[in-house]
Amino acid sequence: MRIGVLCSGGDSPGMNAAIRGAVLRGVDVHGFDMVGFMDGWRGFHEGEWIPLDRSTVRGLSPLGGVMLGTSRARPFVHGDGDESDMRVIRERMAEYGLDGFLLIGGNGTQTVAKMLNDAGIRAIGLPKTIDNDLGGTDYTFGFDTAVSIACEAVDRLRTTGESHRRCMVLEVMGRNAGWIALHAGMAGGAQVTLIPEHPESIEQICEWVLSVRNRGRSSLVVVAEGFKPTGFDDEVTREGLDGFGRPRLGGIAEVLAPLIESRTGIETRATVLGHVQRGGSPTAFDRVLATRTGLAAADAVKEGLWGTMMALRGDSIEFVSLEEAVSRLKTVPADRYEQARLNFG
Ligand code: F6P
Repeated sequence: MRIGVLCSGGDSPGMNAAIRGAVLRGVDVHGFDMVGFMDGWRGFHEGEWIPLDRSTVRGLSPLGGVMLGTSRARPFVHGDGDESDMRVIRERMAEYGLDGFLLIGGNGTQTVAKMLNDAGIRAIGLPKTIDNDLGGTDYTFGFDTAVSIACEAVDRLRTTGESHRRCMVLEVMGRNAGWIALHAGMAGGAQVTLIPEHPESIEQICEWVLSVRNRGRSSLVVVAEGFKPTGFDDEVTREGLDGFGRPRLGGIAEVLAPLIESRTGIETRATVLGHVQRGGSPTAFDRVLATRTGLAAADAVKEGLWGTMMALRGDSIEFVSLEEAVSRLKTVPADRYEQARLNFG
């Protein structure tokens, strides 16, 4: 049996450990022949791949990034996954002697995995995203690493912010879900945490910042990149203008900071943490989760469980259907946000 491993979407700390786990179990225990495609679907379509065995995955667990490379290259060369696209994929698989795929990726990748399975092309999903917004699984590897980096940023911004009596606004990743902001904010004791699932008005945000000042403290505001304040014209933020109609310099933190400063009179600074959250060595938790995900994926191939995704449920890795994994985005529920709000203002 020949299995192709392919990574798609943004990288996530732990991807190397997942590949290592899948190869150690797949090649050494189950006797599969495994290959890795370079830079996601690009390598698949251009025939760029490497053999994967014990020697190619040696020492990978602590390494950030992903040794195969990843990209947002499209899997489908003609359309959005119609029969002619599937024909191209089947032809290439026949050319490479491939029996099935292990697809490491987030929501978009798992959706593709489902489409392939529905078209009779064997695929198994390994979930990864620092955003932790994939359905069907409790946590995705990469999230813990991103949170620990974001939390360190909160701690560091707090000391400089307090020294200057400034309000510090930290923007973290999270396009559609505010998990990183929620956890970093809660761990770091942020006075305001803003997430896409629960819009707040500029007035409310300023009220919290002022009430912190009234207690003699300085505010630490954590905002997820996908947050939009209520009452703000969506077009304004999308077009890249700040609240004053000036061109946006960066993310939502750079929209909020001047608004907070002008409305509260408190000097405010913005920090956009960006890709620092995705780079570098994974935490021990992510290495273990990713390794277990890889091991389980190789077992799923052995058992013929195509069309499933390896999901963390409690303390077990379970095989959930790709259908369940992609049917809904896992956003922050109201009760979790309520807990964070206890510290607001
Ligand atoms: O989906 C993961 C993620 O890190 C998001 O949080 C972020 O919006 C996006 O990827 C950034 O993508 P890119 O690296 O392509 O700019």
